[in-house]
Amino acid sequence: MEDAETSFPQGFLWGTATAAHQVEGNNTNNDWWEWEHRVDSLCAEPSGDCCDQYHLYPKDIKLIADLGLQAYRFSIEWSRVEPAEGEFSQVALQHYKRVIASCWENGVQPIVTLHHFTTPLWVSTLGGWENPRTADLFARYCAKVAQFMGNDVARWCTINEPNMVSTIGYLVGQFPPGKRSRLARDAVNSVFCDAHAKSRDAVKSFSSAPLGLTLAMAEFQVDVQSADPDEFAMAHAKREQGFDGLETCFLESAIGDDFFGVQTYTRERYNAQGRMKPDPDARLTIMGYEYYPQALEATIRRAYIETRGVPIMVTENGIAVVNDQERIEYVDEALRCILRCIEDGIPVEGYMYWSLLDNFEWAYGYGPTFGLVGVDRETQERHIKPSAHWLGKVAQANALLPLR
Ligand code: GAL
Repeated sequence: MEDAETSFPQGFLWGTATAAHQVEGNNTNNDWWEWEHRVDSLCAEPSGDCCDQYHLYPKDIKLIADLGLQAYRFSIEWSRVEPAEGEFSQVALQHYKRVIASCWENGVQPIVTLHHFTTPLWVSTLGGWENPRTADLFARYCAKVAQFMGNDVARWCTINEPNMVSTIGYLVGQFPPGKRSRLARDAVNSVFCDAHAKSRDAVKSFSSAPLGLTLAMAEFQVDVQSADPDEFAMAHAKREQGFDGLETCFLESAIGDDFFGVQTYTRERYNAQGRMKPDPDARLTIMGYEYYPQALEATIRRAYIETRGVPIMVTENGIAVVNDQERIEYVDEALRCILRCIEDGIPVEGYMYWSLLDNFEWAYGYGPTFGLVGVDRETQERHIKPSAHWLGKVAQANALLPLR
């Protein structure tokens, strides 16, 4: 008999995720490559050969299947498909068609993201995501891809975490183009919302596969010990400022979509002074995030309410740690969050662990190890971690399992 407390609904999709620039290697024609190679680069190291997934994808996809997982979320690199304005590479399109075919041959559903942080250099030269025309250029590229792949794609994600590109790239200045302007960030947010709507229409005219947007979401908490009402109000206001600009139009843009991609790693706490640092004795991950897998419950609930009932897919959740057992504990707790949401009637359709491989973690380089699978970057050998086997067994059981 099935135990309602520990089993997932039939058809719940288990998978793992990557992004082109973080695993493929030598994506030399986008804004990130240029950013990594600046003399005054803020990146720990360049991406280089990465995990050479551009060539090794058949092995990686077989590995996903052998582990017992059912889906692979990866991204198509716009700068490969359209290396110059209006020039579409048939070879690049054929490559991604083979990746998708390889997924199906292995019984793995391909979940394709059309933009994951990287933008072709020629688009950045035109003003990048601050330029309203970028939404149209993006939609044209999406139409090309969708026309070429048609119904071979199981699910589409239009844009990965547009709120991170806008906030970290245009407000904080740590991602390309390195701007620090609230005005620029707000402009980029609205271009991204427009791009989501236009790319959705473009894809939908060629493919009937479910489509959604993904967003970086943290649990936002107010932490005030004092009973002072002013202090309490101030902490709430600071928390609202945390939201401000991070979610703005995005949840609204997703209303009516087929699913919504929640991507959560930790919580953010606020007091009257603003965003708090984690407590001195808090458990931290390699990213410096507080270990807080419970955050997933609040973000799923918020996304479901704010999108007015769009079904949820956890398109990213994971942890960068050295001790693999901590990864298992973290994911187990995150899965319990999903079960509680499902119990309350929220349709959560699947869980994609971030990431399949230890890979290029943007400005942090190769330091943070999120992978279920380690990579020797000299030999490109893959080393399967115990957490990968554990998650594969959980997927096969479609239920929580002991933490081993
Ligand atoms: C997300 C991003 C991924 C990955 C992950 C871990 O924000 O979409 O590309 O880097 O964070 O930090």
